Amino acid sequence: MAKIVVVFHSGYGHTLRLAQAVAEGADATLLAIDAEGNLPEGGWDTLNAADAIIMGSPTYMGSVSWQFKKFADASSKAWFTQAWKDKLFAGFTNSATMNGDKLSTLHYLFTLAMQHSGLWVGTGQMPSNSKAAQRNDINFVGSFSGAMAQSPSDASPAEMPQGDLDTARLFGTRVAAAAARWVK
Ligand SMILES: Cc1cc2nc3c(=O)[nH]c(=O)nc-3n(C[C@H](O)[C@H](O)[C@H](O)COP(=O)(O)O)c2cc1C
Repeated sequence: MAKIVVVFHSGYGHTLRLAQAVAEGADATLLAIDAEGNLPEGGWDTLNAADAIIMGSPTYMGSVSWQFKKFADASSKAWFTQAWKDKLFAGFTNSATMNGDKLSTLHYLFTLAMQHSGLWVGTGQMPSNSKAAQRNDINFVGSFSGAMAQSPSDASPAEMPQGDLDTARLFGTRVAAAAARWVK
């Protein structure tokens, strides 16, 4: 069975809920980057052993949080030997505004994956964009590049739109299916 890791940072708990939904769908191990931008003991070993790495960060000022960036810079140690070459990668993010420049965050995660010579998996989900669309539809935020979620600036993590969490779970399922085909 493919080993899948969800590595993420969350400042206030919203991206944590998203990460939990992705991990549920992917049957993945959760690896939280802490408030200082560090992984827990053994975190790098867990990533080195993974077949697929799903990365998540809130969108802060149109990109990843500094804690996630610290993790990304620290991953240069793996980059030097291309230790993560040919792993599958995917990404997700949450922000307060419907657009909020979330695509910039996903593009950063994509670039990081490419620097590690990985292969990128998108959502594979059609957007819900007709007149009949409802907020809790799958992929209402409408992203192919990775899972996007939007939670109002005054919403607690418990109030996050269920549709975005369901979208994240299905996204995790897709990464797991891709990993099962990729890892023989
Ligand atoms: C420093 C900071 C910068 C933010 N920048 C953006 C932004 O660029 N776009 C946006 O839509 N929301 C922005 N937000 C809102 C967060 O994306 C939103 O609160 C998100 O749910 C936080 O996720 P977390 O609880 O996992 O930290 C920002 C929040 C903070 C604290």
